[in-house]
Parts: sequence; C-alpha cells; structure tokens
Amino acid sequence: MKLGTTKNADQLRRYVRASLCLLAIVSADSLAQGDTVAGAPTFSKDIAPILQRSCQGCHNATGIGPMQLVTYEQTRPWAPLIKDRTTKRIMPPWHVARDVGVQGFKNDVSLSDGEIALIAAWADAGAPEGNPADMPPARDFPTGNEWALEELLGPPDVIIKSSPFNVDAGGQDQWWNPISEFPEQSGERWLRASEFKPSYPMGRKVVHHGHANLVPDGDGRPVGLAHYGVGMAWDLFPEGTGMKVPASGHVEWDLHYAPYGQEVEDFVEVGLWFYPEGVIPEKQTSGEQLFRVDGGQGLARGQDIIIPPHGTQVLQGIHRLETPASINSFRPHLHMRGRLMSMEAIYPDGRKEILSEVNKYNHNWQISYQFEDDTAPLLPAGTILQFTSVFDNTEANPLNPDPDQWVLFGRRGVDEMSHAWVGITYLNEEQYADAVRQREAAMTRLSAGAED
Ligand code: HEC
Repeated sequence: MKLGTTKNADQLRRYVRASLCLLAIVSADSLAQGDTVAGAPTFSKDIAPILQRSCQGCHNATGIGPMQLVTYEQTRPWAPLIKDRTTKRIMPPWHVARDVGVQGFKNDVSLSDGEIALIAAWADAGAPEGNPADMPPARDFPTGNEWALEELLGPPDVIIKSSPFNVDAGGQDQWWNPISEFPEQSGERWLRASEFKPSYPMGRKVVHHGHANLVPDGDGRPVGLAHYGVGMAWDLFPEGTGMKVPASGHVEWDLHYAPYGQEVEDFVEVGLWFYPEGVIPEKQTSGEQLFRVDGGQGLARGQDIIIPPHGTQVLQGIHRLETPASINSFRPHLHMRGRLMSMEAIYPDGRKEILSEVNKYNHNWQISYQFEDDTAPLLPAGTILQFTSVFDNTEANPLNPDPDQWVLFGRRGVDEMSHAWVGITYLNEEQYADAVRQREAAMTRLSAGAED
C-alpha cells in the first residue's frame, strides 16, 4: 500500500467540492498566468511531497531528468506538461501492470489515481504556490558522482573500473567489451549489494545498459556482478541473502551505448559491498539471472524471432525450477517492438498464476521491479516459470522505428530480443517451509488487524 493515498483522496474530494463552487465564477481555462483558484491544492502543501517521492530522484540538479522539479520556481513553468505526462502515466516511468500480478515493490514511484487528479487540479487552478512554510524539508540526493548505496552501506569494499570508450556522436548503437582485473580476495566472498555507475555527468546520457561479469580463475561459471539499465543502477539483496563471489578472476564488461549527438568519453565503475569476512549468509542468491524467452525447442538463440512488417508475434519460454525459490525482482529486456512481458507460475498442482506483467514495456527504460521482501513470490520445487513476450511491429507502437521492416533477432535496438532478468534466490526445502510459515503468520496477523 502506498503512503498518503487515502489522505490525498480526501483532499481531492475537498478540492473538487471547492472548485465546483467556484466553477460558476471562473473556469480554469480562462485563468491567466499567475491567477489561482482559492482552496485549490498548493505546491508547498500538496504537490511538493509527491514530487519528492516520485519525481525528484531523477529531476534533481544532477539526475537524469531533463529539468529540476525541486523548487516552486523550477516546477511552475512545467505545470501543464506535468499534468499531461502524469495523466497519461508516461511519468514517472513505471510500466508494470497495477491490476494484475503481485503488487508491493521496493522501488515503486508510481502515482495513485488520487495523486494524479490532485496534480491535474493544481495545474488547472494556475499552479499556486501556497504557503512556503508548508513545504516539506528538502530531500538529499546523491550526485551522479556518488554511490547511491553509500548512505546506507558506506563506501563499497571493492570498485572495478572499465577502460574508457569514445561514444560516437551519431549513428547506430555501439558496444564496448573491455576486460578489467578483479582485485584478488583472501577467499570466497558473499556479495550483499552492487551498484553500476557510468561516468558523470555525460556517461549517464550514453550508457543504455550493461553487465559486469566475473569470470573465475580455473573453471567455474561466470558470476553476474552487476547489471545496469536506464532506471536500474543497483541491487541490494534481502537481509541474510548473498551471492557467492570467487576469490579471483577477471571482469568482462558488456556495455551497450546509445549515441547522444556529441562525442562522449565514458568509463563505467562497479561498486561491490560484501558481507564481512567469515560471515556466510543463510540464503544464496543468483542475483539477476537471465531466462531466455527466445530460441529453445531445438532452435538456436533468437532464431524464432521473425516479426512480419505491420505484424505482431508472441514468444513463450518455460523453465522448470528444480528447487524451491523466491523471486526478488523482474526486469524484462526486449527492444523497440517489445510491448509486453509476463511471468507466470504453473504450480506442481496445476494452478497457474500471473506473478508479474509489464504491459507498457518501453525500450528506453530498463526498470527492475523489485518485490518487497514480504510479497516476493515463493515457489515450490517443480514450479514452471512461463514467460510470454508480445512484439508489435505495427504503426500503433509509438517506439517502432519502421513498421515496413521484417524484424529478426539482433543486438541493436532496431532488431529484437526476448530476455527476462529475474532476481532469484534458490532455497532448500527447509528454508522454503520456514518462509511459507512466516508468510502465513504475517497474513494471519494482517487479517486479524483488518477485523479490528
Ligand atoms: C526514473 C527517472 C524519472 C522519474 C522518477 C521521473 N522522471 Fe520525468 N523524465 C525523466 C527523463 C529521463 C525524461 C526525458 C525523457 C523522456 O521524456 O522520457 C523525463 C521527462 C519528463 C517530462 C517531459 C519533459 C519534456 O521536455 O518533454 C516531464 C513533464 C516529466 N518528466 C515530469 C515528471 C514528473 C512530474 C515525475 C514524477 C511524478 C517524473 N517526471 C518522474 C526521468 C524521470
């Protein structure tokens, strides 16, 4: 549940009543700049708290948003556009369905219907400032130079840096796959959190997404240390959960750049926070694990992506879980024709449930939807995860660069891909049974509370 929703709904009802009384005297359209409606929502009291929670993380002095929405002076000229983008639910970027699937996300910045109506009422009333004394205390945001997790966890234990790359001013997507050293650790370590930081300020404009993988010395599978996409920069595992990191190896980068209209030199850093030496967390996570939703059935990777001009395609992929698991996050990765990806569970008893559905997918954003610890789906061994991707190559897709093209698999944004990145923690039967018991106890407490 989102804080403040009920209060805002009440406020809104009051304002609607107030403005109805005024309607006979003044219609919002006839307001000249600077005129305001008495009793309307004000910036200081009603709008600033919403902007602080849902907008300023990007729209601050060093954020990725194109303008600041911090002070009244900064925000006032944008009021009509803010109303437009919020009413259409384009801003804040949040593309997961709000009426299907598991709800309750750690990083939810979305607005309630009440908040959207409140913003609209404020803009229509001439965007009044109200009493500056009503302003909530300003929020502090890390600059692009700082680690976002530093405030919570202190400085990273290890920082890895990629070699620099010159991103051309124009043309197509560009890739950079350098290799960096991984500072040798005294032994195997357990990762608590990781953060991916393009160079500041210009690097953030050109890095579209990227991965840093640790390839261990000797044999052993590569470990996905950190992942980045516009809208996702860090991963903090739940308490008592960690990812095993081998003591030594080298880091392979996979960096995908989008040109920005001017040449930019970028390097990327990854910060790693470990559990203290000797501490072994109770649960081992794989971090974000890649589930392919293309290829399969004997086909090579991506061979089954064939979207006709002005056509559509659906792809599905299934993965059986051999052990119980909890799902901590969901991040679909499609390209420009991608419109939807859902993640469903088919339980061993045959029941089927939509866990999450990103139904307004937008390739410009790579958002990881991070479930709250107490809503994260808990799945028994034998559950089948079923992913469904929908591609739209018609003109109705606003991001479609050219509906006349056949679209096949490829790494460029104009080609297609179908990947689900899922934050997953595999559990043993005892951990699973414990987690289910705790969840049930919490539900009982909740429903008992609701009856009071
Ligand atoms: C995760 C980062 C992020 C958040 C959160 C966010 N924005 Fe944005 N916003 C952007 C970026 C980046 C752009 C420019 C690209 C685009 O329009 O998609 C933008 C564009 C806009 C624009 C259009 C500006 C123009 O010149 O066209 C408006 C208006 C806007 N945001 C308002 C808001 C409001 C209001 C909120 C909160 C309710 C919000 N944004 C939350 C990143 C964000």
